[in-house]
Order: sequence, then C-alpha cells, then structure tokens
Amino acid sequence: MLLSPAAERSQDGLLSVLCEILENQSHRELFGLEFGSGTGQHVVRFAQEMPFVTWQPSDIKEESRNSIRAYIGATKVKTALEPVHLDASEPWEKWAGLPQSSCDIIIAINLLQYSPFSTAQGVFKGSGHILKQNGLLMTYGPYAINGTITPVCNEHLDQTLRQMNPEWGLPDIDVLRQLAFSNGMRMERMVRDAQSHDAF
Ligand SMILES: C[S@@+](CC[C@H](N)C(=O)[O-])C[C@H]1O[C@@H](n2cnc3c(N)ncnc32)[C@H](O)[C@@H]1O
Repeated sequence: MLLSPAAERSQDGLLSVLCEILENQSHRELFGLEFGSGTGQHVVRFAQEMPFVTWQPSDIKEESRNSIRAYIGATKVKTALEPVHLDASEPWEKWAGLPQSSCDIIIAINLLQYSPFSTAQGVFKGSGHILKQNGLLMTYGPYAINGTITPVCNEHLDQTLRQMNPEWGLPDIDVLRQLAFSNGMRMERMVRDAQSHDAF
C-alpha cells in the first residue's frame, strides 16, 4: 500500500464536494470512474462513504494498480472494482472496455498537472463519450486562471513540474473550459479547496 500525504490531505475536501454534488442522486445506483487513481487512498474512502456509487479505479502504472488492489483488500470495500489499466490520453475506445454513456461521474485528481496536455485532451474528449447525459466530470488540483498562477507556491509547483517534464504543468481553467465545450460539456462550477490553493 503506497501512502501519499498529499492524497491524505485532500481527502476530506474532495469527499465533501463529491457528497454535495451526488447527494440528490443517492437513491440511485451510480457508476464512477477515476483516472490516475495513484495509491488508491481516494477511491477506497469514496467507496466507504458513498456506497451508492460503484467505483472503477484505474492507472497506467502497475505499481499504482497493485497499491489500489491492496487498499481495496485491506478496507474490504465492496463498491470499488478491480483496478484497470487505462491511459487517459488514448481514445476512449481503448479505455478498458468501458461502454459509451456508462458513467455517472468521472474524477481526475491531480492528474492534469502531472501529465502532458494530450492527457487533458483525452480526458475531456473521452468523457464526452462515456458520461451519461447530465453526467459529471470533476477534476481537482491547482490551476492557472486566464494565464495567471497564484499564490507563489503554485507558481513554484508549476516550475518544478515543468523541470520534471517540460510537457507537465498547471493547466489553465480557461483552456479546460474550452476543451469541455468542444466535447459537448460545459463548466458548471469551480470550487476552491478551503484547505489548500487547489480547486475542483
Ligand atoms: C500525481 S499522481 C495523482 C494520484 C492520485 N490521483 C492522487 O491524487 O493521489 C498522477 C497519477 O496519474 C497517473 N497517470 C499519469 N498519466 C496518466 C494517463 N495518461 N492516464 C492515466 N493515468 C495517468 C500516474 O501514474 C499517477 O498515478
């Protein structure tokens, strides 16, 4: 079981926004997909707290999928499925056999910042296909807003990410908004995380 302190810190904020978003649908059985599940800490927490959602965790790394599996085993959650290999930058037809219009909610936590723009393009394009009508895509992390990054710690994070990989870095909300629009979605809202400088 891998442990990410950042994942630990962001859990409560993520959970409260997800619960609020999905509250009025808790009488239905929902299906959720997580891209880049990483350690698996988030998905098991969501599964524990929102048993009306069946979660499909995924990651491109085998090490991550092993950790997700270990968290599911240790917590014995019944509503988190076996993690799958899914590369969000690939066309949705290659996404582990997930059918069109199959997801009520899709989440990507700290994925867009740590991957090239082609991943953001894949996430939005594919989500436009595999989300049900009125389904939701929620991305989380620090962003640029109209080309500006604040506060200074996020500027530093952006520089560090670009040093790690010139194709990584904080995506611009405005670019993501356009990406959503060109794939049949619209930006519903932005929520600031009270505990950090990140947003949902
Ligand atoms: C910074 S980590 C975030 C992990 C987790 N969501 C969290 O917040 O703790 C980014 C994760 O995305 C995965 N990833 C990177 N590129 C990806 C891609 N194209 N498709 C799916 N997952 C990807 C990485 O393997 C890694 O586990």
